[in-house]
Amino acid sequence: MPSYLVTGGAGFIGSHLTATLAARGDRVRVVDSLITGKRRNLDGIPGVEFVEGDLADLDVARRAVQGVDFVLHQAAIPSVPRSVQDPIASNRANIDASLNVLVAARDAGVKRLVYAGSSSAYGNTPTLPKQEDMPTGPLSPYALQKLVAEQYCTMFTALYGLETVTIRYFNVFGPRQDPSSPYSGVISLFISALVEGRRPTIHGDGEQTRDFTYVANVVDGVLRACVAPKASGHVINVATGGRISLNELFRTLRGLIGAKVEPIYDEPRAGDVRDSQADITRARTLLGYEPIVSFEDGLKQTIEWYRESQSR
Ligand code: UD1
Repeated sequence: MPSYLVTGGAGFIGSHLTATLAARGDRVRVVDSLITGKRRNLDGIPGVEFVEGDLADLDVARRAVQGVDFVLHQAAIPSVPRSVQDPIASNRANIDASLNVLVAARDAGVKRLVYAGSSSAYGNTPTLPKQEDMPTGPLSPYALQKLVAEQYCTMFTALYGLETVTIRYFNVFGPRQDPSSPYSGVISLFISALVEGRRPTIHGDGEQTRDFTYVANVVDGVLRACVAPKASGHVINVATGGRISLNELFRTLRGLIGAKVEPIYDEPRAGDVRDSQADITRARTLLGYEPIVSFEDGLKQTIEWYRESQSR
């Protein structure tokens, strides 16, 4: 039975990976500092070994990787505005901790490490959809940090022979995404506002676009990346392959929820990318990946979860 370490496993995406692995019957250990992750995200997932600790401490990283076959490195402070506000704290979480995990994984003989990269690496480069070989152009500390850690991964593969795969996520959404901070993902903020009858805020004119990706698609892509024979050393977009503006997102959610409110338009956000859309050809070729849940179905499942969690 293969064993997995999910770093950041008490976070939004990490907890979905953990739940899927546990349901498959694989052995799973989670390491999480609980800075942004929540212990309750793992409630009801049986058989998970939980280690609380900060991976910016190399000893924590070394203990966490002991005896595991695969490392799914999800731990991060995953926010553009938070990195603009406090670049040093996010550098520590996104780069220092990642380097520790890589060193620890190399020394422990881990079979493969799959890293949570970010579409923010592309910045405002003009061509859409984004292909992995295009030049990068990070616009925020977060984007730069995610790119540096991803380059550390490819370099560790070339230099030390540690197998790594970077999956570049594109605006992931779904159940358990925490809407409680102004730094939260926009879909979690919009849904929680609309469900509670509040007016969501749109930064800028709302015509910026994103390739919003339901979390089950990302889980599928990451788990494929653990075993795909030709994936090591590669950077691979995992997304839906479409794009939608924030204004359109707002209207769609308002319709699905049956809310009546109008949005509040506010200043554009510093460090924001204008348009984002993935080319998923490489994921198809190297991983056999195909989105399994559509954008609209993903929204419906997410709304249902927020409604249920509100009534709890
Ligand atoms: C970026 C990355 C994404 C990464 C995420 C981590 C890009 C293209 N995407 O997402 O891969 O996982 O950081 O946080 O860089 N907005 C509002 N109202 C709100 C909140 C946000 O209008 O209340 C707007 C933002 O200004 C932005 C869009 O919604 O234009 C999406 O914001 P957000 O959900 O925070 O994600 P990104 O910063 O795009």
